Amino acid sequence: MGCCCSRRFIAEEDGKMKFRIIDGRRFHNISNSEYFIPNDDEEADRLIRYHDAMKGFWEGLFHSPVEEKLRQGARVIDLGCGTGTWILDMAKQYPNSMFVGIDLSQIFPTEGLPSNVEFVEYNVLDGLPYEDSSFDFVHQKIMIAAFTEVQWEERVIPEMTRLTRPDGWVELLESDGYFISDGNATNRISKAFQNFLTSKGMNCKIGEEIPRLLENTNAFSEIKNKKKVIVLGKKGGKAGQETLRFCTVGINSCRIILSADMNIMPEHFDALVEIFSIEAEKTTTCLNQHRIYGHKKI
Ligand SMILES: C[S@@+](CC[C@H](N)C(=O)[O-])C[C@H]1O[C@@H](n2cnc3c(N)ncnc32)[C@H](O)[C@@H]1O
Repeated sequence: MGCCCSRRFIAEEDGKMKFRIIDGRRFHNISNSEYFIPNDDEEADRLIRYHDAMKGFWEGLFHSPVEEKLRQGARVIDLGCGTGTWILDMAKQYPNSMFVGIDLSQIFPTEGLPSNVEFVEYNVLDGLPYEDSSFDFVHQKIMIAAFTEVQWEERVIPEMTRLTRPDGWVELLESDGYFISDGNATNRISKAFQNFLTSKGMNCKIGEEIPRLLENTNAFSEIKNKKKVIVLGKKGGKAGQETLRFCTVGINSCRIILSADMNIMPEHFDALVEIFSIEAEKTTTCLNQHRIYGHKKI
């Protein structure tokens, strides 16, 4: 969390608990969302560390050619903003622009915000209460576990398209949902995660599909897909070490659902994750990431 911002979490709304506790971790309690990763302090820490590592790995916060517009003053939205670190970094760099972060769960800061930042609790799948063409730049990252393939096609991409004004830009950063590895434990975990995503109707290769989804709207030109390979662990430098940590902590946070899906005891699953983190240093294990952006036609 930024130095001056803080978060106050509200547990109940309209008599309904806003979260569920499973295995000591806090999860959302929203019926139309398949998102299955916690929204507690441990998760916030995971997201903040990874945001910083990816900022270095991709050499900046975005690749769309929006720098000039941001300097002059633009309206920007980040969907599924999590802890809001992307928004806070952007807001500091571009004080003339206005930034909105929205998330299903209120894990973003609520107090001490810069004057050009707003965070709101909204579900992308419900449609967002902003007029068509309200934003110059619509951004979203690391949402592979948030939407089914049908939701990407019928809700998320159409909503991003609707919100982007003509001559504006959309940008997404996504990891694939599987490892490329010659390690046994790694491949078992990777397969289990892929099977779990598939069973929920999610696509572990959604990053590869997004350019086609944008193309199909007929609303964008200059669609780019930059693919980068992260080598996990020390061999991959800071990005590799942080990605290994991000994946290990993330996989651990889903230990109950993933072990049940694999039909093994959670303790057995923990041992497998432990081997994965050691194995990743010994073998070569890679993860693909995709940065996709497109220009809304005028
Ligand atoms: C893996 S986190 C990524 C957060 C942030 N984009 C980042 O890179 O740090 C996914 C985020 O998406 C949010 N999310 C999941 N489904 C959502 C939905 N339907 N609408 C809005 N946010 C959603 C989750 O609450 C979570 O904060």
